[in-house]
Amino acid sequence: MNNQFIKSLSEQFANIHFQSFNQRNLRFTSKFILSLLIKPNTSYIYKINKGFCIFNHVKEESEIITMAILPKYQNQGIGFFIVKELEEILLSMNCNKIYLEVASNNLIAIHLYEKLGFKSYGKRKNYYSISKDKKIDAILMKKILE
Ligand SMILES: CC(C)(COP(=O)(O)OP(=O)(O)OC[C@H]1O[C@@H](n2cnc3c(N)ncnc32)[C@H](O)[C@@H]1OP(=O)(O)O)[C@@H](O)C(=O)NCCC(=O)NCCS
Repeated sequence: MNNQFIKSLSEQFANIHFQSFNQRNLRFTSKFILSLLIKPNTSYIYKINKGFCIFNHVKEESEIITMAILPKYQNQGIGFFIVKELEEILLSMNCNKIYLEVASNNLIAIHLYEKLGFKSYGKRKNYYSISKDKKIDAILMKKILE
């Protein structure tokens, strides 16, 4: 990918991330997003100016690293369709396992992932620092694609 393009993409994704995540500590900076996008085996799905998902894939395993939809476009099925599109892409690469981590208080995302067939297989205690003295667990979820 062209340097200028990927830098601009990182800024657009960071802007969407900033507006979507209420909790300041969970927001990704454009610098961090850039560091993800330049990694091998890391890719993205982008619905321009609405939302995106960044994921990685190694052989038959993949991970959703983050996903965010601008507040004004939430609850319109965009998140659902991004994950469905991701599943198609992964299957075409013979990748059939998707993993993710989600904050235990993120009921909308948990609802969406469960609706898509993801199952919880564990938890990381106090994984996310959402403020100086508040931490919340991460729920580990996975889906096997058929
Ligand atoms: C989580 C997120 C990506 C979902 O994207 P989206 O495009 O809004 O998702 P969809 O419209 O496809 O689905 C949202 C579902 O949550 C449901 N929902 C809405 N508010 C809810 C609530 N308070 N509790 C539970 N479910 C809720 C909707 O009804 C919908 O389910 P349905 O299709 O069964 O009716 C988006 O809300 C977002 O960007 N959130 C902030 C960032 C974030 O949390 N990212 C995920 C990190 S793992």
